[in-house]
Amino acid sequence: MAEPKTANRLAAGKFYKHFIGPILAKDDGIDAEQLTQLALMILEKTSIYRNWPGIADLLNVLTTDLQRKDLRLQQKLFGCHFKNPIGLAAGFDKNGVAAGIWNCFGFGFAELGTVTWHPQKGNPRPRLFRLAAEQAALNRMGFNNRGAATMLRSLERQNLPRLGQRSSVIGLNFGKSKITSIKDAQEDYASSLEILAPFADYAVINVSSPNTPGLRDLQNPKQLKNLITRLKQLDQCPPLLIKIAPDLDNISIDGIAKVACEEDIAGLIAVNTSINRLGLQKRVIVQTGSTLEEEAGGLSGIPLRERAIEVIRQLRRNTQGKLPLIGVGGIDSPKSAWERISAGASLVQLYTGWIFQGPDLVPNILEGLLSQLDKNGFRNISDAVGSDVPWK
Ligand SMILES: Cc1cc2nc3c(=O)[nH]c(=O)nc-3n(C[C@H](O)[C@H](O)[C@H](O)COP(=O)(O)O)c2cc1C
Repeated sequence: MAEPKTANRLAAGKFYKHFIGPILAKDDGIDAEQLTQLALMILEKTSIYRNWPGIADLLNVLTTDLQRKDLRLQQKLFGCHFKNPIGLAAGFDKNGVAAGIWNCFGFGFAELGTVTWHPQKGNPRPRLFRLAAEQAALNRMGFNNRGAATMLRSLERQNLPRLGQRSSVIGLNFGKSKITSIKDAQEDYASSLEILAPFADYAVINVSSPNTPGLRDLQNPKQLKNLITRLKQLDQCPPLLIKIAPDLDNISIDGIAKVACEEDIAGLIAVNTSINRLGLQKRVIVQTGSTLEEEAGGLSGIPLRERAIEVIRQLRRNTQGKLPLIGVGGIDSPKSAWERISAGASLVQLYTGWIFQGPDLVPNILEGLLSQLDKNGFRNISDAVGSDVPWK
């Protein structure tokens, strides 16, 4: 059983709510991207010097605060041992700078990237907007990242434990460089994966970001098959997953599920941000004065939740539950995590919800999941996957 920690919790959560909460309660004020960069700068140094006295002590306190260990939360999927089903979604740690410490935040896994072969600046700023009232965000970052070679140096510098010896799983998420044409996309993905494979417990083919022109065309079954075939030719190819968009129609989703099964893909991640405005059309972005409909970019957070569940359900049906699914989009509570798992996701990921709710979201979800397992008489989390049992 997980120990009840509620009494002494949660220093990190309290700090976050007190200092960051008021900033996140408004759309304007401190720029969302600047805030992220500041956080990443601190996390980067912390990860590099994580064994130094003082820093190690601080991380121990954080870990005790946020980690929840329970055998019932563990799963082995595509050869990886997940100590719990909650992961950090791609896009927060795009350069993998904090790879060594994501486990201290209680995550069972972290997906780093999206990384591209060429370093790139991404779209002009501002390009990330908080939508506080809706607990949502709009972003058109455009795969800003330091490139695969720099990510490699950063991961090396952090002295991570070897593959298979880590306390939490690390996935790497790969995209196409903007300057590379769709015709040459395969080589672009392959070059990045080739050098970074020794660090990846699993690798994600990201063909679903709305902010790189033409990228989503790679979701077309023929193109996808060719890309997968190319990546599998590499000497070392980690388990491959595909991350898909929420804006695909049912036929396209079925097509991807079919390719995934035929090509022996390890799993599917659903979903990326949406180009649809999901009922928020009239919403004005304070920084630009334009409506959401007029602004380019992908929507994340609570408005994405219903669509994300639908996609998971459809994938589950199409793959007859044979393929592990990772659910992401609008998860911000134990209930929303449970619903995704019960709809068919073996694992779930957090981004926007984690930003708004703060670090206690991970232990809150894990405790909520354990209590649902108890209430429903499930032995472990795998039993709950695809059970369709509602939150009690
Ligand atoms: C600012 C921002 C940047 C993102 N960057 C990436 C990315 O580089 N690669 C990717 O696969 N997904 C990216 N995502 C999408 C998230 O991983 C996730 O799929 C999406 O936000 C839905 O989850 P959420 O509602 O919990 O945020 C990004 C999301 C946000 C908000």
